Amino acid sequence: MRQIVVAITGASGAVYARSLVRMLVRSACRVHVIVSPRGAQLMQMELGIEHVTAQALVECGSDRVVFHEYADMVDALASGSVNTDGMAVCPCSMHTLAEVAAGMGSNLITRAAHVHLKQRRTLVLAPREMPLSVIDLENMLRAARAGAVIAPACPAFYTELKSVQAVADFVASRVADCLGIHEEIEEFRSL
Ligand SMILES: Cc1cc2nc3c(=O)[nH]c(=O)nc-3n(C[C@H](O)[C@H](O)[C@H](O)COP(=O)(O)O)c2cc1C
Repeated sequence: MRQIVVAITGASGAVYARSLVRMLVRSACRVHVIVSPRGAQLMQMELGIEHVTAQALVECGSDRVVFHEYADMVDALASGSVNTDGMAVCPCSMHTLAEVAAGMGSNLITRAAHVHLKQRRTLVLAPREMPLSVIDLENMLRAARAGAVIAPACPAFYTELKSVQAVADFVASRVADCLGIHEEIEEFRSL
């Protein structure tokens, strides 16, 4: 079973994160979820999720969702010796982007991202901010040069998406694509 890390940070777009976790579970992945404190606040504000649990994210298959503590720096995901098949930060705040670009690892999200880069594994960052400062742009370039895939949470509308959920699924399916997960997401893909 493929092991995918999904980090949820405090950028707007909690719905993208929920959609991505659902998609990965349907694709028979084990999903390792890390939520930043601000990410948890956005989950509450945007989706009404008081406590981010497996049941709150997926309707079925919740046994394939494993939570890891944001502040737990002795967690397995902090170590390069524990193998995974990729990581996505979705949505990715400019704060977390900056830490990743600077090579910092002050919490489990940025440490796990750093591990993915140094181990040459797939790291997908889905930043959401508008407009972008020169610092944000430089951080994206720096992270991309270090091997990260920059996949902005940026939906397209040429497929006449009919709901917020469809917009979220569009973005999440692109992130899943970048992770190399293509199965079971056809129904979410609009093109
Ligand atoms: C309601 C709300 C919406 C926010 N939306 C964004 C956003 O879209 N993009 C972003 O980069 N930061 C956004 N922020 C700011 C981040 O939450 C803040 O920089 C925080 O330090 C990020 O921490 P984290 O990366 O550890 O989650 C938002 C904050 C709040 C309270």
